[in-house]
Amino acid sequence: MARPCIRQLFALLTLLTLSLFGHPSAGLELDLTSTASIKNVASTIAYDMMSYYKGNLSGQIPGLLPGPPPDPKVTNAGYFWWEAGAMFGSMIDYWYYTGDSTYNDVVIQAMLFQTGDENDYLPKNQTNGMGNDDQGFWGMSAMTAAELGFPDPPSNKPQWLALAQGVYNTQLPRFDNDCGGGLHWQAYSFLAGYTYKNSISNGCFFNIASRLALYTGNASYATNAESTWDWMINIGFIDSAYNVYDGASTDTNCSQITKAQYSYNAGVFLLGAATMYNYTQGSQKWHDRVDGLLTGILTTFFPNGIAYEKQCEAVPTTCTIDMLSFKAYLTRWMAASTKLAPFIFDRVKAALETSAKAAAEQCSGSPAERPNGRMCGLSWSQGAVWDGTAGVGQQMAALEVIQSNLIDQAKAPLTAGTGGTSTGDPNAGSGDVGGSSPDAIKPSTLGDRVGAGILTALVTAIVVSGLVWVSMAERA
Ligand SMILES: *[C@@H]1O[C@H](CO)[C@@H](O)[C@H](O)[C@H]1NC(C)=O
Ligand SMILES: *[C@@H]1O[C@H](CO)[C@@H](O)[C@H](O)[C@H]1NC(C)=O
Ligand SMILES: *[C@@H]1O[C@H](CO)[C@@H](O)[C@H](O)[C@H]1NC(C)=O
Ligand SMILES: *[C@@H]1O[C@H](CO)[C@@H](O)[C@H](O)[C@H]1NC(C)=O
Ligand SMILES: *[C@@H]1O[C@H](CO)[C@@H](O)[C@H](O)[C@H]1NC(C)=O
Repeated sequence: MARPCIRQLFALLTLLTLSLFGHPSAGLELDLTSTASIKNVASTIAYDMMSYYKGNLSGQIPGLLPGPPPDPKVTNAGYFWWEAGAMFGSMIDYWYYTGDSTYNDVVIQAMLFQTGDENDYLPKNQTNGMGNDDQGFWGMSAMTAAELGFPDPPSNKPQWLALAQGVYNTQLPRFDNDCGGGLHWQAYSFLAGYTYKNSISNGCFFNIASRLALYTGNASYATNAESTWDWMINIGFIDSAYNVYDGASTDTNCSQITKAQYSYNAGVFLLGAATMYNYTQGSQKWHDRVDGLLTGILTTFFPNGIAYEKQCEAVPTTCTIDMLSFKAYLTRWMAASTKLAPFIFDRVKAALETSAKAAAEQCSGSPAERPNGRMCGLSWSQGAVWDGTAGVGQQMAALEVIQSNLIDQAKAPLTAGTGGTSTGDPNAGSGDVGGSSPDAIKPSTLGDRVGAGILTALVTAIVVSGLVWVSMAERA
């Protein structure tokens, strides 16, 4: 727990030194008119991001990043399980954009090690922190692997499409009538935070459901994607200007909405809506939703054309470790959306260009443990003056926004009808008792219960202020 403090102090000293003596580096040199330059810069950033991952070394657990925090109240001491799943998704994108297969085996090993016994991304080790969104991020990475034609796992292993279906099938029974519909934040009723319903959990489901509909052609997925969207509108988590708010407590029947806006919430719905637009062969309804979401995103998260995490970026040290990665998903999904809803291409490409230029400049950092002069901060709007932060989230965000500039050269996502080779299983995950009846896997150790109990008591005590919900919502 001392390390983050020292790190922050160091970051502050670095900033001071930089502002007094000028900066030694102008960041990574990026020429957006050159495919080779974009690929080179992406390769450097990916290498530095993967230097945080030790899961493929002997004695380590494949698929995990250092962390998670021993104390749930300390949010910046390690990486949660979901972020590793998100990171492997960005490495699948990396292969898609650059053709560089250097990391494929490491990614495949990790994605297959964390599937859980029932192949639905509910590994037992993660039960005590399992949010629908956490499971959803691994599911979305598996879906990406299927769509982009990432190498299929050996035939005796679960397949990408079936893994995404396993996530969908275990989440569907978790919808209930609290607040008139929707998924809870947490997957299991015994977890603190279950009484919160939020945009990211429902957004991950919507995103996966729409993509399963397009990939398989099965209308059942589209029906549930659409009803999830309708609930989001009805409950007011998405307003008439397409602002996407964080969520609300079921204790008040979702009548008091936490209005914090995080970029990934809007992004996860954009890709789902673009997919529905494509699935419905260009329907006016989904056209308008895609258009509205994108306008909202550009207004809220791109001041001066540069992607900005409005809730915390002004003081990056107030961003949780989760938030530092949100711009990665926003920009990834904006780029992917242009393939499905080409009418947004020009607006998205312009924003990705200005943001990528700015992000590359910000990759000029030398944190104590990686003094290489090229680690990426989050504060892209600050040009070459490194903001003193570094980590997986910042590397992932810079990687995605930069490589996304190759989207016009990249191939369209595959479906079962256009050459996709991933094998599905419409019933995947349905044998997982814990998936739909969480009490069946309720943790039995006293330590777990005490831990969760303390958190619940704390939450109950302070919840009236609404502050805890904001800080809890920071965790995906
Ligand atoms: C682990 O992965 C890294 C890339 O992230 C690679 O350089 C290294 O060789 C791998 N080590 C083993 C033991 O597979
Ligand atoms: C679960 O934890 C045990 C004990 O640390 C470890 O051996 C195992 O590899 C972990 N499994 C996964 C899927 O993380
Ligand atoms: C709770 O909210 C839902 C959705 O807005 C609504 O349909 C339902 O009537 C509300 N229930 C109560 C008891 O107010
Ligand atoms: C379509 O998806 C639903 C929901 O997963 C499933 O029950 C059904 O069997 C699927 N139909 C086909 C033809 O695969
Ligand atoms: C749907 O996506 C495909 C693949 O990218 C694209 O060719 C097609 O034009 C899209 N459909 C619509 C209606 O935009």
